Amino acid sequence: MYSISDREFKYISGELYKYAKINLTLKKRSLVISRLSKRIRKLNLSGFEEYVDYLKNDDPDRIEFYRMVDALSTNYSLFFRESYHFDYMVESILPAYEHKSMNIWSAASSTGQEIYSILITLLEYEKQTGRHLSYRLLASDISTDVLKYAARGIYPKKDTDKIDPKMLSEYFLKGRDTKTNLVKVKKDLIRKITFFRLNLSDKTYQLPKMDIIFLRNVIIYFDRQTKTELIERLYDYLNPGGHLFLGHSESLAGISDKFYPVGKTIYRRVGDD
Ligand SMILES: C[S@@+](CC[C@H](N)C(=O)[O-])C[C@H]1O[C@@H](n2cnc3c(N)ncnc32)[C@H](O)[C@@H]1O
Repeated sequence: MYSISDREFKYISGELYKYAKINLTLKKRSLVISRLSKRIRKLNLSGFEEYVDYLKNDDPDRIEFYRMVDALSTNYSLFFRESYHFDYMVESILPAYEHKSMNIWSAASSTGQEIYSILITLLEYEKQTGRHLSYRLLASDISTDVLKYAARGIYPKKDTDKIDPKMLSEYFLKGRDTKTNLVKVKKDLIRKITFFRLNLSDKTYQLPKMDIIFLRNVIIYFDRQTKTELIERLYDYLNPGGHLFLGHSESLAGISDKFYPVGKTIYRRVGDD
């Protein structure tokens, strides 16, 4: 087990904050050690002192820096995580979009379970109501590793345990031979999604106006000022009447008064009714 000095920790957390606005307090010291030890071993370095020097002398493409960002970000996700959000979409949002198209953005999509859950919700809605929905789906993350994983659409079978077996056979392919422990999202579903890298702390990105933004389980890593600035930007990215979904332990209380709650961690722009 490597040890990390305050100075080394400060350098690493400072660089991560500058780039991704992910706020690592000293309490996260053991997380940094465990997540970066693999990198240190892989690079044949003796410990954090050499690792910090390595980062300082990184090549112009900052390859190791981006590996470090990937290693330090938390990518945990699940299919139909916080299932009440998908129920809310079906009951309270989708009926209003039967005659107009919508843009939906999973803004910290991680390994893709969220955007596929959204897509399956739309497809099931169409099947059950016999109505046609027109939509564009976007999924972004700061990490290219998780985006690659998402766009491949291959998951351990056990990760899909909570998906209704009928939906599982409709939207996924079962692995064969040595791959029976894996499932793959069907190609025509994957093709409906645009995956791209986007750093939410970047203030210059251009996107079409959205009707629904899933910003779940990511602002928890940001400090108050970063949250406020991001939420203000997302207000401008939403069409009037648009919805913003946050993660189960996240809230806009004290962050922005441009949204009001309409359900559990579900918000709408103010002034659009
Ligand atoms: C815990 S996952 C959330 C996944 C999914 N939204 C969910 O709720 O299951 C957090 C994701 O946020 C991404 N992330 C962290 N900082 C980011 C930033 N500044 N810009 C974009 N994505 C970021 C991480 O790479 C990670 O994939």
